[in-house]
Amino acid sequence: MDIIGEILEVDGMKKRIGGVLWNEAEIRARVKELAQEIANDYRPLLEQYPDKNLVLVGILNGVVPFLADLLKELSKHLPVDRLRYDTLAISSYGRGTSPTELRVEKDLKNPIEDFDVLVVEDIIDTGYTYSYLNQLCEYKGAKSRRGATLINKGARRKYDVVNLSFVGFEIKEDDFVIGWGLDADEQGRQLPFIAVIEDV
Ligand code: IMP
Ligand code: MG
Repeated sequence: MDIIGEILEVDGMKKRIGGVLWNEAEIRARVKELAQEIANDYRPLLEQYPDKNLVLVGILNGVVPFLADLLKELSKHLPVDRLRYDTLAISSYGRGTSPTELRVEKDLKNPIEDFDVLVVEDIIDTGYTYSYLNQLCEYKGAKSRRGATLINKGARRKYDVVNLSFVGFEIKEDDFVIGWGLDADEQGRQLPFIAVIEDV
């Protein structure tokens, strides 16, 4: 089945699935590298301090494919009893010129107090969601907070992204991408590659 060229309806407008930016093998290879970088940073801390534990906090729904791969790769490098993950979902409401307000729709299952937290996102655009999550983790008593994202749209940054330490791929500010968890109006999350969508 030819997925490239397929037409989607996004917010009432027709869009075409355009070129693939990264295929499955490329994404897997990059995630492997990221896991190695993360492990290199956290392993010395975990070894030195027996009370330290790392928890990956993934943001639903987009993060699912990335988080799953990242965890499996990390398990090759970090002790079983020192690594966990949890998820939360946030929803945005309100429209207009002011930033959309965010609200926790599904909270974490377990406390993260005194954990070292790595917030994991599929994509960081303006940085609004990430900065909100960073503050939320601080409020919840995390011992340290850092961030990892599969895709970064750095050129669109409007909000401070503190300790965003791990970035899979950088994209241009006007690219809109789907696949590997990323959606356009809830479509395309399942695709085993990352592709841009174009105006028809
Ligand atoms: P923020 O502006 O950094 O808060 O990002 C808000 C949200 O915009 C992300 O979590 C994504 O759901 C969405 N988003 C931004 N750019 C893209 C894209 O290129 N593809 C899919 N979703 C995107
Ligand atoms: Mg989305």
